Amino acid sequence: MAVDLLLGLQWGDEGKGKIVDVLTSKYNIIARFQGGPNAGHTLEFDGIKHVLRTIPSGIFHKNVINLVGNGVVIDPVVFVKELEGLDQFGLDYKKNLLISRKAHIILPTHRLLDAASEAAKGKAKIGSTLKGIGPTYMDKTGRNGIRVGDLEMHNWEHKYRALANKHEKMIAFYDVNIQYDLEELEEEFFQAVRQLKELQFIDSEAYIHQAQKEGKTILAEGAQGSLLDVDFGTYPFVTSSNTTAAGACTGLGVPPNKVKDVYGIFKAYTTRVGSGPFPTELFDETGEKMAKIGNEFGAVTGRPRRCGWLDLVALKYAVQVNGVTQLMMMKGDVLSGFKTLKVCTAYKYKGAQIQHLPYNIESENVEPVYTEVKGWDADLTGMTKADQFPKEFNDYVAFLEEELQVPIKLVSVGPDRKQTIER
Ligand code: IMP
Repeated sequence: MAVDLLLGLQWGDEGKGKIVDVLTSKYNIIARFQGGPNAGHTLEFDGIKHVLRTIPSGIFHKNVINLVGNGVVIDPVVFVKELEGLDQFGLDYKKNLLISRKAHIILPTHRLLDAASEAAKGKAKIGSTLKGIGPTYMDKTGRNGIRVGDLEMHNWEHKYRALANKHEKMIAFYDVNIQYDLEELEEEFFQAVRQLKELQFIDSEAYIHQAQKEGKTILAEGAQGSLLDVDFGTYPFVTSSNTTAAGACTGLGVPPNKVKDVYGIFKAYTTRVGSGPFPTELFDETGEKMAKIGNEFGAVTGRPRRCGWLDLVALKYAVQVNGVTQLMMMKGDVLSGFKTLKVCTAYKYKGAQIQHLPYNIESENVEPVYTEVKGWDADLTGMTKADQFPKEFNDYVAFLEEELQVPIKLVSVGPDRKQTIER
């Protein structure tokens, strides 16, 4: 059976967690393929709001297997806290949560290195979530990392010590004031590792291969967004993994010819947390209004998100890089009440008008060119069927479909599972 992918097409926070949760009943396996606890996938149902960090968003469905793939980086301390948060729901995660032996482990010193690196960068900082993501992927590609499978070996603590010692020297090298008590952090870390080891560690690529042979349906769940991809994003203001479709192949061991549908999730406007270019960013009361109505605060860090109009140049780029087959538009309800909506359909760049994403999209290089469309007043949040949508909303969606040349199959009009409308 083929694998479907679900990816964020902007700078993260598109609402992937909600959509995975909505789609999960169609799948046997939900598999995360990259990122780690920098993600915060929010799910809302039955009046409960829950934020998942590393655990796949299918965990609330009892008959679904949730796999943490080899491309993910795991912080045992955060992971165990996440499990504790699930206890109230009575889920049998020892049975339906599987972890790839090839996933890398975030050590306490990786987190410290992240903080030291950011502090040393000063104003040029990435705006990292400081969860140790960058340093852990650096150790992965530098061939120094510790993997989940190592935790089953008798000598892994030697390997740990050698790496942590090296990290301490690196932290000192940064010459910034980072206060820490490694002994205390390690106590918490080793305790969490013991708890993590009670879960099932597997050879995940073999598991996925077998599941495909048996005709099982698999949804690969992406984290962050395409514009934060280490290769295709707004480098260096990106995360350290491939958040795009190719990342699902390397992060799970899925061959490209086994990928079928690619679901691209985007917000009806644009947001970004952390530093980096954002051509359509708004610094006025319109941006403030979007942030307020959209409750745009980071699920992991609580930082306010920067807001702006929808950027179709960037969105088209993400659609192309990922080979998106179906689009899902989130938070259309937030735009209710805006008299006129703007959509960026081109950039002014070096004196010319261009429609592709150039190498350099800082505000001194690109200026957005907007197309204006009429807004709508109606509150969409209580709507349950597409035929209830106001004309102007349908026009907005039709305009985007025409520009992107991909159908928008699903529209979300609120955070709850039930506020999801198929088109
Ligand atoms: P890091 O991955 O924590 O190092 O963060 C690198 C950049 O990606 C920062 O700008 C973060 O704000 C951003 N980022 C990382 N994870 C997420 C996410 O899940 N949603 C939105 N932005 C994220």
